[in-house]
Amino acid sequence: MSLLRVENLTKEFGGVRAVADLSFAIDRGRIHSIIGPNGAGKTTLFNLITGVYTPTAGRISLDGHDITALPTAARAARGIQRTFQNLQIFFNMTAIENVMVGRHLHLDTRFLPSLLSLPAIRRANRSAAERATELMRFVGLDSWLDADADAMPYGALKRLEIARALAAEPSLLLLDEPAAGLNPKETADIDALIQKIAASGTTVVLVEHDMKLVMGVSDHILVLDYGQRLAEGTAEEVRSNPEVVRAYLGQAAPGVG
Ligand SMILES: Nc1ncnc2c1ncn2[C@@H]1O[C@H](COP(=O)(O)OP(=O)(O)OP(=O)(O)O)[C@@H](O)[C@H]1O
Ligand SMILES: [Mg+2]
Repeated sequence: MSLLRVENLTKEFGGVRAVADLSFAIDRGRIHSIIGPNGAGKTTLFNLITGVYTPTAGRISLDGHDITALPTAARAARGIQRTFQNLQIFFNMTAIENVMVGRHLHLDTRFLPSLLSLPAIRRANRSAAERATELMRFVGLDSWLDADADAMPYGALKRLEIARALAAEPSLLLLDEPAAGLNPKETADIDALIQKIAASGTTVVLVEHDMKLVMGVSDHILVLDYGQRLAEGTAEEVRSNPEVVRAYLGQAAPGVG
């Protein structure tokens, strides 16, 4: 059974069909990419999968369970996490605290504020801090363990977001342009990190404009155009598809760069 299944999904904003009758499946334990020109509906699709938006029509299921009507937090509890195209970092916190926020989504800490002094909660926080440290090392932020978030450079913040998403121990991780704005060395590091995450058992869905990264790292690629599926397959299949090349006219074609 596929991990994620999207069936006839549609999202309309006024007259714009950002996602239009889209169906696809994501298999477990692989690196899947979703590409397409600007405005193709990629971020909207992530917002639908995570529950930020309610679809106009269609169905989303995770592990065979219909999650279409579930709120964001319930989907996170079932194993869906994401990073954002525009960084969503808490700049008034330390780096470790940012990662711990992700961990707390995983723990049931609804009553945390009033119970902070209870030993059990203190232990839970200590273990969250230890796990956050481990995750920062995992994403390559060893030298920023004691940093305040607002002192970190952009490239490190992109990885901090990934660490925060991983802190909730997702089965499905959605990455929205993790390499945007990064230099070639930083992008190569993200490539290696994505492979490490997939190797650790988390299924990755990557939205990215950096075609060298996408073509190199993906087991499977879905190409969107105007919210619809334009093509699907391996890097080789997608790259040589004339429809795909045509959709990218005026932008960097998937074969280039
Ligand atoms: N909240 C919204 N309200 C109205 N229109 C929206 C909203 N979100 C997205 N859209 C529209 O939906 C379409 C798809 O946008 P989306 O951000 O999903 O594209 P994208 O594939 O992520 O593009 P990019 O590669 O530039 O990030 C665009 O036409 C966009 O203007
Ligand atoms: Mg986007």
